[in-house]
Amino acid sequence: MGKFNNEALVKEIKGRLSIINLVESYTSVKKTGKGYVGLCPFHDDSNPSMHVDEEKGLFHCFSCGAGGDIFGFYMRYNNLSFPEAFSELAKKADVNIERQPESVPRKSQNSVLYKINAVASKYYRKILIDSSKGKLGRDYIQMRNISAETSQEFSLGFAPEGWDSLVKFLTKNKVPLSIAEKVGLIVKRNNTDGYYDRFRNRLIFPIQNIEGKVIGFGGRKIKEEDQPKYINSPESDIYKKRKSFYGIDKSKDHIRREGRAVLVEGYTDFLSLYSFGIKNTVATLGTSLTREHVSILRRYTENVVVIFDSDESGKKAAMRSLDVLLEEGLLPHVAPLPPGKDPDSYITEMGKEKFDELIENSTSWVEFFIDISIDQYRKGKLTLNTMVKDIIELLEKVKDPVETSLRIKRTAEMLGIQENEIYSLIKRGRGRSKTGAAKPQRTYPSHEKLLLTLVLKFPDLGEQLTHENWEDLISTAEIKSILQEIIVQGTSDPSSLLLRFDDKVAHEMISEALLSSPDIFNGQSASKIIQGCLVKLKLSKLDEKLKFLRIEIDEAIKGKDAQLEKKLLIEYRDLTKQKQREEGKAS
Ligand code: UTP
Ligand code: MN
Repeated sequence: MGKFNNEALVKEIKGRLSIINLVESYTSVKKTGKGYVGLCPFHDDSNPSMHVDEEKGLFHCFSCGAGGDIFGFYMRYNNLSFPEAFSELAKKADVNIERQPESVPRKSQNSVLYKINAVASKYYRKILIDSSKGKLGRDYIQMRNISAETSQEFSLGFAPEGWDSLVKFLTKNKVPLSIAEKVGLIVKRNNTDGYYDRFRNRLIFPIQNIEGKVIGFGGRKIKEEDQPKYINSPESDIYKKRKSFYGIDKSKDHIRREGRAVLVEGYTDFLSLYSFGIKNTVATLGTSLTREHVSILRRYTENVVVIFDSDESGKKAAMRSLDVLLEEGLLPHVAPLPPGKDPDSYITEMGKEKFDELIENSTSWVEFFIDISIDQYRKGKLTLNTMVKDIIELLEKVKDPVETSLRIKRTAEMLGIQENEIYSLIKRGRGRSKTGAAKPQRTYPSHEKLLLTLVLKFPDLGEQLTHENWEDLISTAEIKSILQEIIVQGTSDPSSLLLRFDDKVAHEMISEALLSSPDIFNGQSASKIIQGCLVKLKLSKLDEKLKFLRIEIDEAIKGKDAQLEKKLLIEYRDLTKQKQREEGKAS
């Protein structure tokens, strides 16, 4: 789904076309109490499960999950790209799309945002290098072994303690605070007038786009007891996490030259590798890799090595990225780290040569996955059925037929079965998903979904989230980016919100949230429910962390690593305490 920046034209087209009329030309719809329902044309529907809402301009099938606005419907039905659907629907609506207004004001608006980030970055930098307030930051940098050179090259900075250092600095220099708020550097106070600094007592990592302009910031805590570990700028007109990489302005030429990119997860991992001379690296920013990320990487190389944290959560995160790479037609490699290590700690302890070795010895993800699955099957940890199913699911994502057949051949050999048997299983798998009953919908954590529904219905309440580290609590990437859009940009109507998303899933989630629950909430009860959701999300996040920790502790015990075990146990105890505190709030 292509993104389109000409909101005005899109709105005009939507205003002139009725979604009911459009849908009716493809499938019959009936008026019911609240709106219209009809047989969904996107799956084999026997019971009308598609809802259409004229006022909101949305459709949603509660059986297969298809949803969106007229553009979404038209694209999906006719298998068109967004620009194609746009020009056809423009004709139907008799809207002339040749004229090209807008764009200019938007650009100059953005240049103000870049400028204010540059000003803030300089401010944080100055404090880090020559202010008494920056001593904590300087000590921390030293403790982390970040060289002066790296600190300089990446313009690291320090946000001092206190609630309004930046606010004061900006005010003194006559920088409009409302603009600083737009990029998330400062946050509006809840009850009184004025703003406070988002980043306080943190080491600052400016995030730069491909051209080197500062689009956002990451801030790492210095004090152990602060939470969370990193605070990041929210999304803004110039900062989109799903298409930004930390460090890419510096590393892109190295990636092209070396014909390979090393993908890591964190700011410090990136900086550590870079300063050891592994400069063909990129880091995602607190999200897993998206398709947009891949299309950027592609400009420089098709070879990507994903560094794989061996703990459970690291593995899960890496697997999501690997899936995206496969689905975009790449054949990524993986380089697993020993348990308990991240790229930064590994290279710092073992040196560059060992890390180079790790990269050189990286294996194709597909091969790695198959080998592990077969190994687990042989050890009795997986049944034959589950193993074959896992492998098939993976192979279905591989876009290269030569690779697929090679892997099938090898898998069959390793298992001592016929290749044909695997092929017929793949066919059966495909058949299930393409025809017949609706494909089971992806399910999303219910509290995240409820939160989304409430904030979509009461956008003003989104503000409540900014007082929490809500971004760390939401695990579903699409829900997170929709909420970010609402909170950062505000939204007047769902259609303009839809326009800001490229992917189908976001469209489906928005249409579902808006067309699902009846309007039972008033603003006040909604606000209470939002608070309740946040507590629930915190608790489930803590539960998840505890679960992974238990697995890691088990592994440390098995591996007889007493030091690691002790460290993990302390972490476990702290988290349990934190959980008890949250539970207190919930009751
Ligand atoms: P990690 O927790 O692995 O941290 O998060 P790290 O990169 O090793 O950082 P250090 O070495 O402890 O300083 C990986 C990445 O996930 C995002 C950040 O981008 C981080 O670099 N993250 C993590 C957040 O956005 N918020 C958090 O609270 C934690
Ligand atoms: Mn680290």
